[in-house]
Amino acid sequence: RIEDCKLISFDKNHRIKGNITAVNSGEEIPFEIKRVYYLYDIPGGEARGGHAHKNLKQLIIAGSGSFELILDDGFNSKKIRLSQPYEGILIPPGIWRELTSFSSGSICLVLASEIYLEEDYIRDYENFKNKKRKNSSNS
Ligand code: TYD
Repeated sequence: RIEDCKLISFDKNHRIKGNITAVNSGEEIPFEIKRVYYLYDIPGGEARGGHAHKNLKQLIIAGSGSFELILDDGFNSKKIRLSQPYEGILIPPGIWRELTSFSSGSICLVLASEIYLEEDYIRDYENFKNKKRKNSSNS
């Protein structure tokens, strides 16, 4: 559910010489990190994402710059602008996401609970929505 997509604030560790933020498996975030990947050099006006995951948990951070995250659980959606490297959005499985409006030079850092598995993706929005609606009418 969309309510389960949580904004998490990390310790900024502010120093005169600059800041440092750490994210530890099972401490600040409720899963073990098995993969880290990042999006960068994203051309202006480009959108990324456009899929959901069956099992994968992720934490998305604006490592630099800013972008918009559109989250959708098949019933409700919300839009969040991420712009602080000491904040992240936790995305549980079963959430459709789109990333848009990347600022120039921005970096989208993703901490993931599993290694890359194409079978874990749901890439068709109608299929995603139908699955969600079927599941909710069963429960
Ligand atoms: P995808 O997750 O569809 O991109 P995005 O959601 O950022 O638009 O990934 C695009 C391609 O990159 C995918 O088809 C395969 C490759 N890829 C990997 O090889 N490993 C990874 O961990 C990820 C995330 C993607």
